[in-house]
Amino acid sequence: MIDLDSLLRVPYGLAVVCSGDKQYGNGFIATVVFQITAEPVRFGVSCNKDNHTAELIKQKGVFSISLLPENTSVDVIRTFGYKSGKDLQNKMEQKKIKHGYSDVPVFMDNVVSYMTCKLEQTVDVGTHLIFIGEVMEAEEVNSQAEVMTYAHYQKVMKGKSPKNAPTYINKSKK
Ligand SMILES: Cc1cc2nc3c(=O)[nH]c(=O)nc-3n(C[C@H](O)[C@H](O)[C@H](O)COP(=O)(O)O)c2cc1C
Repeated sequence: MIDLDSLLRVPYGLAVVCSGDKQYGNGFIATVVFQITAEPVRFGVSCNKDNHTAELIKQKGVFSISLLPENTSVDVIRTFGYKSGKDLQNKMEQKKIKHGYSDVPVFMDNVVSYMTCKLEQTVDVGTHLIFIGEVMEAEEVNSQAEVMTYAHYQKVMKGKSPKNAPTYINKSKK
């Protein structure tokens, strides 16, 4: 038996993961973002194959990760976590964005810290791709803010995960 609620006890933080360039960029909300090695500093992101951002990461070979604070607006969660760049003209419009390593867009609209990564490996795990990248730049932007943990998102914001998220729970299968 797999108690799906027990899986949610794994601590995660919420981030916006972006890719693209100066002409066009897109991003999605990710919880499954993790450091893999210290030397060199490498991070991994689990990205659903249907995400529009997955195509951009494959094409451009770069991605950025911006950690979100506890006071992240519902608008940011809705736009980046529930809407696809496949359907929206430009998610980044009216958001604070800067361009980092290799022109990758970095979401800067109220973030705790960010990093940019050069794609090193892509591991196909069925529904998702694990993008593994070497960190090229990293900066703490707000040392006072706490990162929005997935637990905070669920308990305080009463948020859930859509089906593209690795942490999605299909209640009908429980
Ligand atoms: C709280 C939350 C956590 C999520 N975690 C992930 C994740 O770790 N990996 C993933 O691929 N999608 C995750 N998603 C779903 C994507 O953010 C969502 O499918 C997004 O609309 C994809 O955007 P895109 O198609 O423009 O790339 C999450 C969504 C939410 C709201």
